[in-house]
Amino acid sequence: MTRQAEAVAIATRAEEAAKGLLRFLTCGSVDDGKSTLIGRLLYDSKLIMEDQLRSLADDSKKHGTVGEDIDLALLVDGLEAERQQGITIDVAYRFFSTARRSFIVADTPGHEQYSRNMATGASTCDLAIILIDARKGVLTQTLRHSYLVHLLGIKHVVLAVNKMDLVGFAEGRFAEIVADYRAATSQLAFRDVLPIPLSARFGDNVTMPSNRMPWYRGPMLLEHLEAADVTAEAGRSAFALPVQWVNRPHQDFRGFAGTIVSGRIAAGDPVVVAKSGRATRVSRIVTADGDRAEASTGQAVTLVLDEEIDIARGDVLVEPRARPEVADQFAAHLFWMHEEPLLPGRRYLLKLGAELVPATITSIRHKIDVNTQEERPGRTLELNEIAFCNLHTTQPIVFTAYTENRDLGGFILIDRTTNQTVGAGMVEFGLRRASNIHHQHLDIDKARRAAQKGQKPCLVWFTGLSGAGKSTIANILERKLVAQGAHTYLLDGDNVRHGLNKDLGFTDADRVENIRRVGEVAKLMVDAGLIVLASFISPFRDERRMVRDLLGEGEFIEVFVDTPLAIAETRDTKGLYKKARAGQIKHFTGIDSPYEPPEQAEVTVATGELSAEAAADQILAYLTSHL
Ligand code: ADX
Repeated sequence: MTRQAEAVAIATRAEEAAKGLLRFLTCGSVDDGKSTLIGRLLYDSKLIMEDQLRSLADDSKKHGTVGEDIDLALLVDGLEAERQQGITIDVAYRFFSTARRSFIVADTPGHEQYSRNMATGASTCDLAIILIDARKGVLTQTLRHSYLVHLLGIKHVVLAVNKMDLVGFAEGRFAEIVADYRAATSQLAFRDVLPIPLSARFGDNVTMPSNRMPWYRGPMLLEHLEAADVTAEAGRSAFALPVQWVNRPHQDFRGFAGTIVSGRIAAGDPVVVAKSGRATRVSRIVTADGDRAEASTGQAVTLVLDEEIDIARGDVLVEPRARPEVADQFAAHLFWMHEEPLLPGRRYLLKLGAELVPATITSIRHKIDVNTQEERPGRTLELNEIAFCNLHTTQPIVFTAYTENRDLGGFILIDRTTNQTVGAGMVEFGLRRASNIHHQHLDIDKARRAAQKGQKPCLVWFTGLSGAGKSTIANILERKLVAQGAHTYLLDGDNVRHGLNKDLGFTDADRVENIRRVGEVAKLMVDAGLIVLASFISPFRDERRMVRDLLGEGEFIEVFVDTPLAIAETRDTKGLYKKARAGQIKHFTGIDSPYEPPEQAEVTVATGELSAEAAADQILAYLTSHL
């Protein structure tokens, strides 16, 4: 084949693939009949093997709810838990095909608490089937699902009005539901909504026309799924490839591997590294099947470039005329998917494209009530809640709006300690505020200030329970340091909470913010050349690590004032434990709020065995030998 013929062949294959495969999502509430519908599609597409059918018949007798009929729901309810509880609990992808098209169904749960699964399932889909029980009509849940579908960028909706057999196949009921639905969702950005009256259990209008609803003249469900036109929307069409890894098997070959997330590229085309702006040309496109003249969206390729330029994992290669945004702040919709609430100010890992960077939610602009779409104020996010937020990454990243490209605009947040995915987000727009603020060069720097004071600045961070003795020991240590001629400052929890942090209480979110601010202040003081002592319960490892990361190597000295709860409580110097036990103070550390002890503190002082004086001496000895 000539290069050109080959290019044409690839392009055709890509188009075929695009036309030939439909990814869709089904959503509905628990007993709208979702599983039955999918089962019906699979069953009628004759894809079920004989033996599978036989075991299904047995199962139906055991679990089924439809008498002697085969319970189609059992076919798709693969999960034992679902069989027992009657709800679907995770996203299941199913693959089937007809002569005209192949399908991937993301079957997601309808049960309220599992909206997060829907977020996961929907992000790759082009079309959503929203199920309604004809007897119940449009429910709050229907609106929630529709809103999520809209937020996830799905433009094509089928409104499947199921169980028409239970409303006597009445045209009036169908029309009423359709009118209700249209009125309730008129604000959502759907390109088309096709209502279909059907009965999944009996197959009416699923794969076969129904002679019981002669008034309906539209397509059957499968017919519509086979024909639905979901080819590329107005979204991004310019070439972009996030670099997954740098492929360097030997000295003579250096390629950049990844999947093309939009557009197409041909050998000889110019490309730019989005972040650095370095421009060059593609010299070869290498794939598992050898070299190609051209490649397009969805294909995994290795690009070899004309020049040796600096490119690392996470960089994005793009077309020079359509460069995505590069920024460290942006606004996004965020789904919270974890039992532990979101804490603004905490550092999570953000994964977008091939990039993985620390990020914080700097503010929640508003929460969104998924049922009513109302905007509400809020300081944290609980499981399954959605908010419009501002995010900040520790370094600039490359992105587009989610509506422009799901791969370059969709991201997940990962907890740094447990490695669990805790949130999923969709970028709306970049925030340019920060780019107007540049670091100002100052002639006098930390080294100069420190030299003038004749000391090496550092931050001695005391952590431990309330009443552990942090402030007492820090106070003695500061006296000893000053007696030796050191320049110091002591930041103490109770004191700072009277001024800088007087707007903060003791919820997890407030404690995170407390430590974030204190960390920034302490950093400035270290920059001023001081030896800074900070005495805060600072119960969370994540925030102590955040402060550590703010400072230079060896500048952060974590001191764990290790006093068991029983001892701190017996001392109860401020009478607070008594009140906490009596329920008069909420969120009290050690009582109804957690304390995470350090795993690798530079110094641990066991106050059970040592006097405060001796503990201070132990820390002083550490400082003397390490500074
Ligand atoms: S931190 O958790 O955010 O680091 P911080 O060290 O600033 O706490 O403040 C703790 C001090 O506030 C305690 O020593 C105690 O005197 C007082 N306090 C009042 N309410 C609480 C509470 N619910 N939990 C812990 N400390 C409290």
